[in-house]
Amino acid sequence: MADENQVDLCGVDELTVGDRRRFELSCGPVCLVRVTDGFRAISDVCSHEDFALSEGEVELDECLIECWKHGSMFSLDTGEPMSFPATQPVPVFEVTVQDGRVLVRIP
Ligand code: FES
Repeated sequence: MADENQVDLCGVDELTVGDRRRFELSCGPVCLVRVTDGFRAISDVCSHEDFALSEGEVELDECLIECWKHGSMFSLDTGEPMSFPATQPVPVFEVTVQDGRVLVRIP
């Protein structure tokens, strides 16, 4: 059962593998990504400049997302930048799948 810090984002079947979608939540914009083994949620604001990661390409094999603006790659597992120019991580959020729904835990 969802607790008060969990937000129901969408149904599991609304995204196919490789899809990403932006959600406007109380903690700010969040990018939900469907990867091969489930879902990841990451802040939808690049740590380099204010651009949306959800508009970038997803690298499924390594579970990364690329910022479309300057090309930094971010781990969808940790939020850490894997390449320049970004040097700071972006927040990641715990995702739970429950009864066919995708829930994200926000601070
Ligand atoms: S805005 Fe994302 S790498 Fe520059």
